[in-house]
Amino acid sequence: MEFEKVVKERMSTRKFQDKRVPEETLKKILEIGRLAPTAKNLQPQKIYVIQSKEGLLKIDKSSPCRYNAPTVLLVCSDKNIAWKKDEYSTYEMDASIVATHLMLAATNYHVDNIWIEMFDKNIIKKEFHLEENIEPICLIPLGYKMDDYKASPLHTDRKPITETVEFL
Ligand SMILES: Cc1cc2nc3c(=O)[nH]c(=O)nc-3n(C[C@H](O)[C@H](O)[C@H](O)COP(=O)(O)O)c2cc1C
Repeated sequence: MEFEKVVKERMSTRKFQDKRVPEETLKKILEIGRLAPTAKNLQPQKIYVIQSKEGLLKIDKSSPCRYNAPTVLLVCSDKNIAWKKDEYSTYEMDASIVATHLMLAATNYHVDNIWIEMFDKNIIKKEFHLEENIEPICLIPLGYKMDDYKASPLHTDRKPITETVEFL
């Protein structure tokens, strides 16, 4: 898809069908995530693909926001790998750039998606036995939206560019 079309077509999906994303498509999406830039190219991201019944139950324990998606990308960042200076680290920023790539890649391959922040990181860490240095950043449910799903009104509610951009 043309880039501008991808960006315009992406929308948060909150009602998924049971239909799974084909493995080949999933691989293509993950490959685009691999190409994302990170601070000093340290690539601290760690992405867990959750599709098993047990795995999805664990996701549901941590969040009300899976919306029935049959696949969830659990995007994490390794704090030991990410670039840091004194108290500051780019671990969250790096993984967020990767997550953005993943969302737009999914849209490019006609796979619906949403970024989820509302989840309990401690539950995720415990349920998936993540090491202390692996920090969950976001969940990305993936799949195909229900035919009757309509985008949220917020989808088209953007501030005028004059409010967010200033030429100095
Ligand atoms: C950092 C971030 C966190 C978000 N967390 C949630 C969430 O926990 N639950 C949810 O339903 N949507 C969540 N969203 C989706 C936003 O609500 C949505 O992107 C916004 O309302 C604009 O709508 P659109 O994505 O359809 O354009 C999140 C989006 C971002 C970027």
